[in-house]
Amino acid sequence: MAARALIGLQWGDEGKGKMIDILAADVDLVVRCQGGSNAGHTVRVAGESTVLHLIPSGILTDRAHCVIGHGVVVDPGQLLAEISGLKERGVNVDGRLSLSGRAHVVAPFHKVIDGVQESSRGAAKIGTTGRGIGPAYTDKVARCGIRVMDLLDESVLRSKLTASFEDKRARLDLAGDTSDAEGTLECLMEQGRQLSPYICDTVQLLLRARRDGKKFFLEGAQGSLLDLDLGTYPYVTSSNATIGGLATGSGLPPTIIDDVVGVTKAYSTRVGAGPYPSELHDDVGQQLRDAGNEYGSTTGRPRRCGWLDAVALRFAVDVNGVTRLALTKTDVLSGLDELKIAVAYDIGGERTTEFPSRLADLEAAQPIYESFPGWSEDISEVKRYDGLPSTLREYISTLEEMVGIPVTWVSNGPGRDAVICR
Ligand code: GDP
Ligand code: IMO
Ligand code: MG
Repeated sequence: MAARALIGLQWGDEGKGKMIDILAADVDLVVRCQGGSNAGHTVRVAGESTVLHLIPSGILTDRAHCVIGHGVVVDPGQLLAEISGLKERGVNVDGRLSLSGRAHVVAPFHKVIDGVQESSRGAAKIGTTGRGIGPAYTDKVARCGIRVMDLLDESVLRSKLTASFEDKRARLDLAGDTSDAEGTLECLMEQGRQLSPYICDTVQLLLRARRDGKKFFLEGAQGSLLDLDLGTYPYVTSSNATIGGLATGSGLPPTIIDDVVGVTKAYSTRVGAGPYPSELHDDVGQQLRDAGNEYGSTTGRPRRCGWLDAVALRFAVDVNGVTRLALTKTDVLSGLDELKIAVAYDIGGERTTEFPSRLADLEAAQPIYESFPGWSEDISEVKRYDGLPSTLREYISTLEEMVGIPVTWVSNGPGRDAVICR
């Protein structure tokens, strides 16, 4: 294996952090490639949960070198807090973390503008995480963004900040924000000084590692249905959370990826607004939220919950070229009499098994379900596949037929040891 990629197949929070921690145990480098601190990847080791927003989830393994690639938008204050939080808990970070100088910076004003934009959307709010992600990527695409390397160059940073404040003043005023270029310069320069030991050309670092035959793990953030191009636009994030984003965001060629692991919950969740055909508004949805502790790792918002959607899942599997699945949170389904999977949509009287590209179609889509019997027992201590209830194994084998690839890992609890590898 040269490079394994791991991608979320739903609307994020599928359990990527947990699976990366397990699957990256024997790799040399783990690379974050897109998104920013909108991500919250939880790793639970020996009863202690760590939520990582910017640092790759591989940091809790013994040896992996962790790289924040140029496709990530980096909030320097958040990153420094994450580094010190890990160090306080005895995690070895120095010498194991590299930050791309090409990565774009999320400045404090990006977060203010994120809030201003959300307010101005009224009922059409996206429900962003408020972490400044959209505004930072907007500046990147408009070619006026601040890069991490600029934090080490006072004159470049000053001229970019001056231009940025001129451009954004009216919107900052709307929020009553009085920050200015000089104050922001001082803050960002200081953060740049503190981050300087980690900053380098990560593309050259990765290409050297490739020549040395090292093994890579590319850590996806968000989920395929939040992808800027392929997701439920405009209710998406501002980066490519599907497989292409991992190549463009790291600088590694896509041809070295020889294994694409897709992560999906055994049901579904979404945090933030946007169409969600298999959402449950009833007691079963609440039961999933309670049993799965479905509250956002980044914002604490309650997650919307629903049944697994095989129409959306097959789309995500196909666009990412997923080779095998990790099915998480199976333990959360214990105690439900009946389980359902959406196998098709009815859109205006027409049945389809293709995931629609039009927002109006997605909003109108009525899921057509297949039902499965549930199981009552607690499965969180089960260690072997054949120890799982036959009804769960039936659910899994039908799912494999629906999406056309195997479920290789079944996760049955938040901890590192709660996973069954088939
Ligand atoms: P990520 O963003 O994809 O890394 O996922 P999050 O960390 O945001 O959310 C997943 C949540 O589910 C975290 O609290 C995990 O600790 C938890 N989790 C992961 N896998 C399982 C599982 O199999 N069972 C249960 N009960 N919890 C899980
Ligand atoms: P991980 O990596 C769940 C959602 C937000 C919102 C939309 C846009 O932990 O799976 P943004 O702040 O990115 O502009 O918000 O995207 N969102 C996530 N939802 N998990 C995430 O990351 C998310 N990152 C963004 O809730 O609906
Ligand atoms: Mg998350």
